[in-house]
Amino acid sequence: MATDVHRPIDTRSAVRVEGLTRSFDGRPVIDDLQLDLKKGEFVALIGRSGCGKSTLLRILAGLDRDIEGTVLVPRRKAVAFQAPRLMPWKKVWRNVLLGLPGKPERAVAEQALTEVGLSHRSDAWPKTLSGGEAQRASLARALVREPDLLLLDEPFGALDALTRIKAQRLVGELWQRRGCAVLLVTHDVEEAVLLADRVLVMDDGVIAHEQEIGLDRPRDITDPRFAALRAGLLERLGVDTAAEAA
Ligand SMILES: Nc1ncnc2c1ncn2[C@@H]1O[C@H](COP(=O)(O)OP(=O)(O)O)[C@@H](O)[C@H]1O
Ligand SMILES: [Mg+2]
Repeated sequence: MATDVHRPIDTRSAVRVEGLTRSFDGRPVIDDLQLDLKKGEFVALIGRSGCGKSTLLRILAGLDRDIEGTVLVPRRKAVAFQAPRLMPWKKVWRNVLLGLPGKPERAVAEQALTEVGLSHRSDAWPKTLSGGEAQRASLARALVREPDLLLLDEPFGALDALTRIKAQRLVGELWQRRGCAVLLVTHDVEEAVLLADRVLVMDDGVIAHEQEIGLDRPRDITDPRFAALRAGLLERLGVDTAAEAA
């Protein structure tokens, strides 16, 4: 049964999901799931591969409406995926404006590109961008939508370690400046603890566990409390941290 995606009625929340079920070939991947995000909250979603994280994100983005249950999301939302999905025949700034309603001016793209530190590549062709630059372009494309909800599906997954750290920092800054709610899907527990107010663990089609991250920002990964939160979440994922450290 198809259900419409609506705006939240409660202005304090950015997402409200109740009794959400999504099946493929009769098998429920999401099974009576509940989820709430506060306005401006940064939430990370982790869980083993294939547990339904991307499926949930696509539903929140309005890309998959073949669902049962209630999904309330803001009208202004944007999504960025692991693969930046840039059109190779359009210059970077045109990619940033792609799909925006009306005839937005180039200045709109330039402003978003400046925000992600990519204004110098505005006239470049996508194939000439590095992985980190392409991901910044993808973020700029999300920002021009001025989202109240930013959905990120493993956006740093394909980046090398140093570029990844820079991109994580950038997302943290953008979130603090913009004040939008963020739902970040990641397979990286450290990234989740570094960035999020709250980390959700998805399993068996539901949010099986949640962990508040009450640490001040910017966070220090050498803080023992950081390590303890990370270890606790890894345990939830079924990763043996003792074996990992050995
Ligand atoms: N369009 C689809 N058709 C059939 N099965 C799908 C489809 N999309 C996802 N699935 C299945 O749903 C499960 C969850 O997938 P996904 O949400 O991509 O997992 P995750 O992002 O957590 O790795 C997987 O078993 C996947 O094979
Ligand atoms: Mg996925």
